[in-house]
Amino acid sequence: MSFSALRSIIRNMSKQIVLGVTGSIADYKAVDLASQLTKAGWVVDVVLTADAQQFITPLAFKTLTRRPVVTDLYAEDEGWKPTHIRLADEADLLLIAPATANNLAKLASGLANDALTCIALALNPNAKVLIAPAMNGKMWLHPATQANVKVLEGRGAEFIGPEEGMLSCGYEGIGRLWNVEQIAEKASDLLLAASDWCDEIVRTIGRLFSSALATIGTGRWSTPPAVFFSVAACGTQLWFAG
Ligand SMILES: Cc1cc2nc3c(=O)[nH]c(=O)nc-3n(C[C@H](O)[C@H](O)[C@H](O)COP(=O)(O)O)c2cc1C
Repeated sequence: MSFSALRSIIRNMSKQIVLGVTGSIADYKAVDLASQLTKAGWVVDVVLTADAQQFITPLAFKTLTRRPVVTDLYAEDEGWKPTHIRLADEADLLLIAPATANNLAKLASGLANDALTCIALALNPNAKVLIAPAMNGKMWLHPATQANVKVLEGRGAEFIGPEEGMLSCGYEGIGRLWNVEQIAEKASDLLLAASDWCDEIVRTIGRLFSSALATIGTGRWSTPPAVFFSVAACGTQLWFAG
């Protein structure tokens, strides 16, 4: 393995993508997307809406990302923190691909009735948002959808696609999910633009320390103390409140 490949894996290791998949006929392409993002070295946590699970099962995502897949707001993992809040805190990028018209409407109006929309609403302010819509052309061009897109762009979300072509609903026109390789590239560009080496070192140390504290916290410390990291050369600081 070349030094630059190793360097990019180490650099990417601590960056986390929450990949939201909503109920679209293009959902099978999200499996490839999850695979490409994982191979690029990103940590990928997939969140499937209930409707997405009509089109695709968690198994392929779980196997390819080597991570649990969130399928239900109420299916909590082992920690004390609700899974959707943990993911909202940890995400460096919320990528929704494919994003349905319904999901855009929910995001724009701040609805939070499933794991994905709860994560979007609770998302930490440093996380980027990238949305790749896929839908019937009339749904995409409908003034309601276009207004939702404007609202989300106004809040800083970036859109990629949709593109024109043959749609699975039988029509030709705009609405196809953008090319998966280019979605993966755009996601990587957004993450790399937001990072530097010092950030990575501090975050990695922080995560290791945080999990050590969690372990210690089960024994002697019922409330692990706040810990403060500072890497003077980087000018970077990080707080952990156990
Ligand atoms: C066969 C089929 C394909 C669909 N494809 C899409 C699609 O590509 N885009 C879309 O916005 N809605 C599509 N829908 C409708 C959504 O699944 C529906 O609006 C659903 O409520 C979306 O839920 P979610 O946004 O929570 O995942 C499709 C429905 C069916 C039955």
